[in-house]
Amino acid sequence: MSLPAWVPIREDLRDEEPYGAPQIDVPVRLNTNENPYGPSPEAAADIARAVQEAALGLHRYPDREATELRRALATYLGHGLGPEQVWVANGSNEVMQQILQAFGGPGRTAVSFAPTYAMYPEYARNTHTRWVAGRRAEDFAIDPDAAVELIESEQPSVVFLTSPNNPTGTALAREELSAVLDVAPGLVVVAEAYAEFRRAGTPTTMA
Ligand SMILES: Cc1ncc(COP(=O)(O)O)c(C=O)c1O
Repeated sequence: MSLPAWVPIREDLRDEEPYGAPQIDVPVRLNTNENPYGPSPEAAADIARAVQEAALGLHRYPDREATELRRALATYLGHGLGPEQVWVANGSNEVMQQILQAFGGPGRTAVSFAPTYAMYPEYARNTHTRWVAGRRAEDFAIDPDAAVELIESEQPSVVFLTSPNNPTGTALAREELSAVLDVAPGLVVVAEAYAEFRRAGTPTTMA
């Protein structure tokens, strides 16, 4: 859908379609990372109580550091992490966009390995970061030699690795990660939005 010419939107966004993962009427919706089991009535009642309590403080801005949430997430992640090592935002989409706002931008490049999460090039476009996608191998693994070659030639400010990868479900192997870490000149982001779905025995990047 194209916007009327008088709408003064950025030209590179004019003909874009909004992103949206298909919302299919099936019980298990892995494509949107949804839990097929709803919360228990007890959990729902807890949430309602907590919302009611929070509503009484709505005349104040919330803690802008989201300290309690970051502390709870650090505890959930384990590995001795503390709240000062956790960044929170509205979904990991916003975290990724903020990473590119801070570390990407005009004149900078972000690299990943396709097929991978379809939003990465969109964050790059939104932040005027140049986007370069290497190809995964036939089995959807990342070939460490090809990755090193691409990173050495593109010198990206940010590399996105996804484990398990969306849409292929491929876990990131240690050799792939260390090959990238050895040569990446900037930030290496390992996105583990689907970590809870990894096969038994597959470590997360933090392990
Ligand atoms: C790899 C990956 N990262 C992030 C997201 C989005 O996560 P959030 O809902 O936390 O923004 C998705 C959703 O499909 C995803 O596949």
